[in-house]
Amino acid sequence: MCGIVGYIGTEQASGIILNGLEKLEYRGYDSAGMAVFDGNKINITKAVGRLKALDEITHGGESMPGNAGIGHTRWATHGVPNHVNSHPHYNEQETIAVVHNGIIENYLALKDKLIGKGYAFVSDTDTEVIAHLLDYYYKGNPLEAITKVLHRVEGSYAFGILFAEYPDELFAVRKGSPLIVGKNETGSFIASDVPAILKYTRSVYFVDEQEVACLKADSIRFFTVDEEEIKKECVHIDWDENAAEKGGYEHFMLKEMYEQPKTVQDTLMPRIKGEDIVIEELGMSDEDMRQIRKIHIVACGSAYHTGVTGKYIIEGLARIPVEVDVASEFRYRNPVLEEGGMVIVISQSGETADTLAALREAKERGFKVLGIVNVVGSSIAREADNVMYTWAGPEIAVATTKAYSAQLIALYLLALKISKARGVLAQEEISCMMEDLKRLPDQIEMLLNNKTKIQHFANRYIGAKDIFFIGRGIDYAISLEASLKLKEISYIHSEAYAAGELKHGTISLIEEGTLVAAVSTQKSLYQKTISNMVEVKSRGAFVLAVTNEGNTEIEKAADYVIYIPETNQYFTNSLAIIPLQLFAYYVSIGKGCDVDKPRNLAKSVTVE
Ligand code: M6R
Repeated sequence: MCGIVGYIGTEQASGIILNGLEKLEYRGYDSAGMAVFDGNKINITKAVGRLKALDEITHGGESMPGNAGIGHTRWATHGVPNHVNSHPHYNEQETIAVVHNGIIENYLALKDKLIGKGYAFVSDTDTEVIAHLLDYYYKGNPLEAITKVLHRVEGSYAFGILFAEYPDELFAVRKGSPLIVGKNETGSFIASDVPAILKYTRSVYFVDEQEVACLKADSIRFFTVDEEEIKKECVHIDWDENAAEKGGYEHFMLKEMYEQPKTVQDTLMPRIKGEDIVIEELGMSDEDMRQIRKIHIVACGSAYHTGVTGKYIIEGLARIPVEVDVASEFRYRNPVLEEGGMVIVISQSGETADTLAALREAKERGFKVLGIVNVVGSSIAREADNVMYTWAGPEIAVATTKAYSAQLIALYLLALKISKARGVLAQEEISCMMEDLKRLPDQIEMLLNNKTKIQHFANRYIGAKDIFFIGRGIDYAISLEASLKLKEISYIHSEAYAAGELKHGTISLIEEGTLVAAVSTQKSLYQKTISNMVEVKSRGAFVLAVTNEGNTEIEKAADYVIYIPETNQYFTNSLAIIPLQLFAYYVSIGKGCDVDKPRNLAKSVTVE
């Protein structure tokens, strides 16, 4: 995710900014830049790639003198990672500079309006809209311009802003994206994350939603969106500097699991407009969607598992046949692709060699490919005909969690969109389901907050030899992912089975005490799965059930039950996977495994 650092004071700003951005490098980024006021004007320097490049072209900041500045590391969301899309962004007169983390959901509408008023844009970013909008509202009072902008923008953001006419001030504001403000004897700081400024100060203020911070070298004042001044308490931070880089979490995987409510929110909300689902990047009209005869989903690993979920959802909601392939199979099996076929490839990294090859295979055969991708500007994103981005931010742990959750959201939206275009579901049903989708972030958060219970349970299985996951329908897809999560980070042998398949062989593996995790979130299949639980239990298995709140009947067949909150039957994967991710994580750390970098695995598999 992007990083922000800013400084105003008696020291040179550029060195402090470069140092702070370096502390945020672990978050992942594709370009960096800074704006420094030199006494006359605001100068901006940007560099694509590593922060080192920015450091080199500015000679460690020396070629950008000045006591006030803002810096940014960008993780591309709107617009590919290149020089022009990197932050900071200017207004046309280069008198206002902005850095931004987050996503402006209504940026296209704002951009159109500004273009109508004569503003010219140079980048593809949502951030440039803010620079021009500030310019539009600025009549000599920065606070007034900022608060007017806040009334117009929708989405999540943290901004750092410089106004050339106010060289002694630096402004910052946030909503939905983190931002802190700090102070020491030389000046005042802004940062998107604590580690960026820990070297300089441990006295910080946590900026609340839509609060504007006005920083000077010797003072910091806070205002509401209605320009009323507010008092805030300064907090002392006593974090260890290294721990701080993981935001205080012990591992990236844990941090990323905790980012899931936000990831889901960010992938979902910009595409919900009132009663409509708007996926502009799909490049398909309703008529195009009505012409689809078959969908092919192709992916690897966890992305393949979201594809399996997608099959159940798209077939259920849009009534289109879906075939799901592991990419390494698809590329060599000479698949039958016929007219009316739509190919979707799913990939977090956008660089997975087999998925990329499958995409090329489909394109060579004359099929348009939709990519569901997390990394902007990656190979799959560039080569796909259309790209629906999952806005999960950089994922560092090898075991995917938040990108997986974001992919599910992309598929739910796609299924509902196609369903509506084809007239399968009525608007009332779709509206109800959209309300369920909007509740997911809070429900995921609630499940994450129950981690202690899962941790205790997981501790009992750090010595396990085999663990099985079973489920039917979407619960089978959840089982596949839960099993992969466990085996890749804990090195415990694990398999997932469609619960009805057990008696065709697998049940012979059940011994006294073998853990069988049964996922049962599909009401129409409760009784069937309970029968399978009874089958394994009577052969000595210890049965863990993951089911919906209220399904207490399952307690008769299970030894331990984890309940998930109520949601639409098609969306249960987003909730049921959370305790199972936590389970895998705690088994892994209980065994002392390297949870973020499991043996023999790479984050991005760029070879066959
Ligand atoms: O970057 P991709 O989504 O294309 O990666 C696909 C798989 O390599 C990936 O999901 C892998 O299975 C993860 N380690 C699972 O946690």
